Amino acid sequence: MLEVQDLTVTFHTGRGTVTALHGVDLTLPTGRVTGLVGESGCGKTVTALAVMRLLRPPGEIRGGRVLLGGQNLLALSEREMDRVRGARIAMIFQQPRASLNPVFPVAAQLTHVLRLHRGLSGRAAWAEGEALLARAQLPRPERVMRAYPHQLSGGMCQRVMIALALACRPSVLLADEPTTALDVTVQLQIIELLKSLQQELGLTVLLITHDLGLVAEMCDFVSVMYAGRIVEAAPVSALFRRPLHPYTRGLMASRMRAGSRALPAGIPGRIPDLHQMPAGCPFHPRCPLAQGLCAERDASPETVDGGDPAASGAARMVRCHFWGRGVA
Ligand SMILES: Nc1ncnc2c1ncn2[C@@H]1O[C@H](COP(=O)(O)OP(=O)(O)OP(=O)(O)O)[C@@H](O)[C@H]1O
Ligand SMILES: [Mg+2]
Repeated sequence: MLEVQDLTVTFHTGRGTVTALHGVDLTLPTGRVTGLVGESGCGKTVTALAVMRLLRPPGEIRGGRVLLGGQNLLALSEREMDRVRGARIAMIFQQPRASLNPVFPVAAQLTHVLRLHRGLSGRAAWAEGEALLARAQLPRPERVMRAYPHQLSGGMCQRVMIALALACRPSVLLADEPTTALDVTVQLQIIELLKSLQQELGLTVLLITHDLGLVAEMCDFVSVMYAGRIVEAAPVSALFRRPLHPYTRGLMASRMRAGSRALPAGIPGRIPDLHQMPAGCPFHPRCPLAQGLCAERDASPETVDGGDPAASGAARMVRCHFWGRGVA
């Protein structure tokens, strides 16, 4: 299990320091798929980068823990963390082509990783590289090995990224909108591939997405993020049956589409500027349930009955003073 506890991240900008993540808690149960959803700018990518310790200045991790097998990744040295990234956690990104090195053929990138992290070289590395490409369901892997990223389609680049991620035999995969940049038909193929690899390898997956349909299809659990906070977390079936937080309810009503950068139609207003965060609950200016209290102080996370016997009593969390009033 990978557990993020109270993760806080700031950015130092010309206009002052902003808090992009505000005590984020996230649990990724082993061998399951957990979705992370929320509007553009709410902190999804920053969360994944912080877990990988790939956040670059002006971003800074100010507090919290990332526990993997009981070890706090935030307390490791850079070298120790390199080893974790090479063997236990991998990440794939929204822009697969941009994530590959344009000046080297696929083979060089794959064999580099295999040499560095698995000590394979020469023929063994080449053969394993081809096997990984085949595993990512790339046709004619021997040809893909010799190709440069610009010679491959976006979908093929994402398959190469997946092969690279698997090269380290990770147990945890962070997938940041892995299909958003791709055509719809290719999106479906990549999702099918991720699904089958997840099941085959028993991967623990964090799937970052705008697409609630994808969450319903792929995820076991889901966390909903707003303005750098997790506002609701639940087993997927329970969340869809009975969304508790007014923000989640708004998202459901507007069914954010894949790749959509538009604001969800069901929620008036927009996500607050981090430089001008409203006092109290950051959602209150847009919230149909808001009362005076909401402008005064933020709600604390509240554990409520899982409401889903199928999910073996997994508790759910909601962070709202008045969630009960909006729920049938
Ligand atoms: N380099 C940066 N400098 C300053 N602020 C940043 C920087 N990167 C991110 N942020 C802040 O962190 C917030 C969260 O960004 P993040 O990229 O995690 O959003 P996201 O949820 O992944 O959005 P999207 O759905 O568009 O990918 C942003 O709103 C922004 O204010
Ligand atoms: Mg993002």
